[in-house]
Amino acid sequence: MDITTLDWNLLWQQAKNKKTWASKKAHDWDKKAASFAKRTSTSIYTDKFLELLKPQEQWSILDAGCGPGTLALPLATMVRRVTAFDFSKNMLNILQQRATEDGLNNITTRHTSWEDDWRHSQIPCHDVAIASRSLAVKDLRAALAKLTAHARERVIITDRVKHGPFDPEAFAALGRPLNTGPDYIYTINLLYQMGYLPSIDYIRLEETLDFSSFADAMSGYTWMFNNLQADEEKRLKKYLHSITTTAEDGTVSVHRRHVPTWAYISWHPAR
Ligand SMILES: C[S@@+](CC[C@H](N)C(=O)[O-])C[C@H]1O[C@@H](n2cnc3c(N)ncnc32)[C@H](O)[C@@H]1O
Repeated sequence: MDITTLDWNLLWQQAKNKKTWASKKAHDWDKKAASFAKRTSTSIYTDKFLELLKPQEQWSILDAGCGPGTLALPLATMVRRVTAFDFSKNMLNILQQRATEDGLNNITTRHTSWEDDWRHSQIPCHDVAIASRSLAVKDLRAALAKLTAHARERVIITDRVKHGPFDPEAFAALGRPLNTGPDYIYTINLLYQMGYLPSIDYIRLEETLDFSSFADAMSGYTWMFNNLQADEEKRLKKYLHSITTTAEDGTVSVHRRHVPTWAYISWHPAR
């Protein structure tokens, strides 16, 4: 074997083709926008990302696949300006509504996709470009090159470590197969092959998640499954009960055996 002959973009594409489910389209994300915004609003993910990023007040930041503003909103309070794009209109609507509520006027949103012509979408080069949990593309090399070309100082992406937010034991409990596709290790190797020197940190999410009720805890798990059948819901409940404790005040704590972890990957745009 000779590592220098490996085509990491092709390996990544091949691993992606083995994923258990098809990639989500804009209308799929539109449907998920409200629940995604709710589920992620209290996660420690944002604080940990910002701790690693150390935003500087003079920065302009491009947020690719910004979702409901998980990072664009807090960043707008810390830096000069933010351009946030997403192909889901509902995600952008939530972001804009939240920005208005918070009195933020330094976020520009663009309804566009990774694949579109960003000159046409009026997305210029920024000081820093980030793509948080949003590299859902067909051609990883092209997306990384495009993001890098839109940053002067630093590029940052977060990518799944192993199963990322999916719980393999929950899938096993339902008897459903789980293949979440390529994780960050492909991305790191590809970046190296492209001539960059990426740094890696890890964002480990909460081991225990607290919910006001068991029904709430269930919704923290059901998003992982398309078309959940009644018998599967029963099996999921049983599994969830096995990793849950209930306090006297009724608060439900889910003790995750598979703690979602994200790789925080950053590199300088100049090779
Ligand atoms: C998991 S969410 C992450 C949102 C946010 N960056 C965060 O970390 O919370 C992925 C986002 O990427 C967007 N997305 C996925 N594929 C995209 C594409 N091809 N072009 C633009 N946005 C895309 C989705 O609409 C969704 O808002």
